[in-house]
Amino acid sequence: MNAQPHDIAAVESLLAFWRDAGVDACYGEAPVDHTHIAPPPAVKAVQKATASVVTPMVGANAADAIAEARHLAAGAATLQDLAAAVASFEGCPLRGLGATQSVFGRGNPNAPVLVIGEGPGADEDRVGQPFVGTAGQLLDRMLAAAGLTDRVFITNTVFWRPPGNRTPTPQEQAVCAPFVERVFALLQPKAVLLLGAASAKSVLQTEEGIMKTRGQWKEWRLAEGAVSAPVMPTLHPAFLLRQPQAKRQVWADLLALAAKVDGSG
Ligand code: URA
Repeated sequence: MNAQPHDIAAVESLLAFWRDAGVDACYGEAPVDHTHIAPPPAVKAVQKATASVVTPMVGANAADAIAEARHLAAGAATLQDLAAAVASFEGCPLRGLGATQSVFGRGNPNAPVLVIGEGPGADEDRVGQPFVGTAGQLLDRMLAAAGLTDRVFITNTVFWRPPGNRTPTPQEQAVCAPFVERVFALLQPKAVLLLGAASAKSVLQTEEGIMKTRGQWKEWRLAEGAVSAPVMPTLHPAFLLRQPQAKRQVWADLLALAAKVDGSG
């Protein structure tokens, strides 16, 4: 069927309506497994019930993806190499769920502080850098006030935008974790700042909520034992945009972080 100009105009008008209403990703009615993995019937049933925005991988496939990520990450000798390795990695299920590009990191490649957020949003997906939207601008202002501008390298627990800005799943984070660990190993920061519950739970491998863990120093030590650093979980800047009264707590956490980096904390 050939589309007539008035059909095209009607479709464009409808799409503009949805875009203005905040709809920025399209999905079919049936889940599409862009990782070419055939899940068993039980998983398919779950996918149907959850409207297809999460694509769980099954055991061996997830293990294969993690092994591939580990292999690629180990081959990267610099953060620049690592960014290229991430961009070439096809094993993260988020890749097929509407993200337009990988979002690796920004900041000083010799920074004494590693900042880890949850996952890229729409602005980050468009620009290709983490924390460039309104939450990122607030983060930058708070880092500047704490004297930490140019002393941070910023990344996320996953490198592709989760659809609709949902929280990344533990499985998506597990597949990306070898790259996050390699950032940590290459940077060897003096301290790490974890932004938000999903980041803290993934890096610290804890089920404790962020309201409980924030403001307390923890240790992150890689399995090989060679790299470790003190870690400060804190509240996510997107949360602060909704709950500005919580800035006080994050400010206290940032001051503790700055003191630690300066050797006085
Ligand atoms: N929120 C995050 O957790 N990371 C980003 O990069 C942007 C928003």
